[in-house]
Amino acid sequence: MKYTRTLLLAVLLVLLAACTQPKPSTVGSDAGIEKRIEQLLSRMTLAEKIGQMNQVSAGGEVSNYAEALRNGQIGSILNEVDPVKINEFQRICVEESRLGIPLLVGRDVIHGFHTIFPIPLGLAATFDPALVEQGARIAAVEATGQGVRWTFSPMLDIARDPRWGRMAEGSGEDVYLDARMAEAMVRGYQGEALDANALAACIKHFVGYGAAEGGRDYNSTFLTERQLRNVYLPPFEAAVKAGALTLMTSFNDNDGVPSTGNTFILKDVLRDEWGFDGLVVTDWNSMGEMIPHGFGTDRKDVACKAVNAGVDMDMMTFGFISHLEELVASGQVKESAIDEAVRRILRVKLLLGLFEHPYVDVDAGQAVQYAESHLDAARRTAEESAILLKNDGILPLKAGQVGTILVTGPMADAPHDQLGTWSFDGEKAHTVTPLQALKERFPGQVNYVPYGYSRERRTRFDDIVAAARRADVVLVFLGEEAILSGEAHCLADLNLIGTQSELLVALKAAGKPVVATVMAGRPLTIERDLPNCRAMLYAFHPGTMGGPALVNLLFGDVNPSGKTPVTFLRTVGQVPMYYSHTMTGRPYNNETLLADIEPEAGQTSLGNTSYYLDYGARPLFPFGYGLSYTTFDYSDIALDKEAYPQDGTIRLTFSLANTGAYDGTEVVQVYIRDLVGSITRPVKELKYFERVPLKAGEKRTLEVQIPVSELAFFGLDGVTKVEPGGFQLWVAGDSASGQPVSFQVL
Ligand code: GLC
Repeated sequence: MKYTRTLLLAVLLVLLAACTQPKPSTVGSDAGIEKRIEQLLSRMTLAEKIGQMNQVSAGGEVSNYAEALRNGQIGSILNEVDPVKINEFQRICVEESRLGIPLLVGRDVIHGFHTIFPIPLGLAATFDPALVEQGARIAAVEATGQGVRWTFSPMLDIARDPRWGRMAEGSGEDVYLDARMAEAMVRGYQGEALDANALAACIKHFVGYGAAEGGRDYNSTFLTERQLRNVYLPPFEAAVKAGALTLMTSFNDNDGVPSTGNTFILKDVLRDEWGFDGLVVTDWNSMGEMIPHGFGTDRKDVACKAVNAGVDMDMMTFGFISHLEELVASGQVKESAIDEAVRRILRVKLLLGLFEHPYVDVDAGQAVQYAESHLDAARRTAEESAILLKNDGILPLKAGQVGTILVTGPMADAPHDQLGTWSFDGEKAHTVTPLQALKERFPGQVNYVPYGYSRERRTRFDDIVAAARRADVVLVFLGEEAILSGEAHCLADLNLIGTQSELLVALKAAGKPVVATVMAGRPLTIERDLPNCRAMLYAFHPGTMGGPALVNLLFGDVNPSGKTPVTFLRTVGQVPMYYSHTMTGRPYNNETLLADIEPEAGQTSLGNTSYYLDYGARPLFPFGYGLSYTTFDYSDIALDKEAYPQDGTIRLTFSLANTGAYDGTEVVQVYIRDLVGSITRPVKELKYFERVPLKAGEKRTLEVQIPVSELAFFGLDGVTKVEPGGFQLWVAGDSASGQPVSFQVL
């Protein structure tokens, strides 16, 4: 009996130790850092603790903030990028405040700092995480070179409504692609070791922001827990596992609860389930916006709700600095909650080495801006991100055969708009536009006729058409001004704005080959424009080096390999339309369209499945679509088993051949469907992709391994697991191609 009791006690002690064992730090902290945090915390007054939780947008003279800095009332600033000023901010904190705690200096470095890369939607179109990671690293080197140590990026918001302007800032509609891009950007920003060039990532906007009703920014979302856990949360979990140091709450209320006061996502999921021990910052005044949301009565109330939900830092509501002391005094907020928030803030500052190295070397920092290697990487990324949507064979253009080139269109020479949204520190003087690149490559051959974003209905293009008649080829650059996408910039009409479509009609009528290149922040509805051009290249605002990149693609120096990370709609009325939809009980099966029939008078039935009588149920171009100058053929597709155990690995083999005349790179995509589940499942989900370069005529046998665990989902019973049953697998060059192979999970 005594022996049993001893054994039981021993087991209980082991279990207790396991439970109290601190979770491994997701941000990579260690005992030394944790010890320093506790030592510092023990010396801080409540006011100094609260000061760390206060973030201020800096502008104007440093002296405006000097007193608050000396009093320890500011823990972070954003929107200052002058390294001399940043050093002065830091000097006051480090040398003149009581505890010498350095500032965390933040900035929206969204797709490059000075050297601007394609907008994140374009980065996703590369399907090249390694290249995207390199670009984030370059952004980190340039930003930290000027004293910025925190970026509010990457944005992980799954976006399936192109009316929403912020689709430009994310990785599109797919969970798997978004997660891989998130991991790449977190690694790129923060670097291998958190050294002086480490830029703290901030995964945002947590969570579900891209599902704004009506595609209108800041609007409410109504996502169920299953949608959150199967679609919107996984990219954030992947980024937390990749070591993201910080996270930002989103503006939206989901199912009635604003994210900045949402305990379920900020505590239950983020802290308790994922063990995230990084810093949570609000979005700009998103704490204060809980008042108009009708979720709080005043700034004190929303500050209380935010800190008790798990927010650590307040961006520009001044709710914490104004009310937390009295909230602690009244007992509405425990000081232990303040301590926990301050621990997470100090942890990030210590991990970044800010206590040891608070200052930036101004001269060294200037030297790295726009380095040749940076511009080269930006060009290569723009080349990989452009998507060839149409080509009747006119492309690639033969340099020796073009003769006179007419260049026109609003994006031909638009150095600012080409950078796209959220390019705060991109300087248009450094942008190389398509016109500049063409003039350099074909001196004396380019005739440029400007065409602005004319809002007025231009009915005559005589000058441009006359020039087209004199040219051998017409290169027209169309699209969207940068200001029309990004935050708060939503559109209900996705056609080319102004009279661009009419311009195309006129150019086609001139009788010379017309090649259209579109630069935009979203997939526009360009179906009506396709008949009026021989080829169309689509670039989500390609950044500083977009000009040379697009010219290299048009003339075949580089073979297009970009694939769209979002569905291209035929009309905005099809919203929302994305590839990983559920099947419904009446899936579309080639029902006749209105255009194909003449309804008889009194006809009582037409169509019986889920589609639009006028536009059908298929998009213009599906997720993952993109042409090449060559062609690829998939064959010998086989699985190594017919059935897999839950802990097994699916081993897919197939042959891929380059069956055309150009060397090229195919983005191989593997999709899987769970045929029957405890809940209805998507008709396809991307589970793997890889860029495969092949010489013309080359054929390779490839193998892909996918753990069965990748098929897990949050089901009816509220558990995330793989459910046994039948599955189908496709391997193809886009989400609408290929034939499935079947397998079972036991
Ligand atoms: C903005 C954006 C957020 C950005 C922040 C700071 O409102 O929503 O993405 O990082 O404010 O500029």
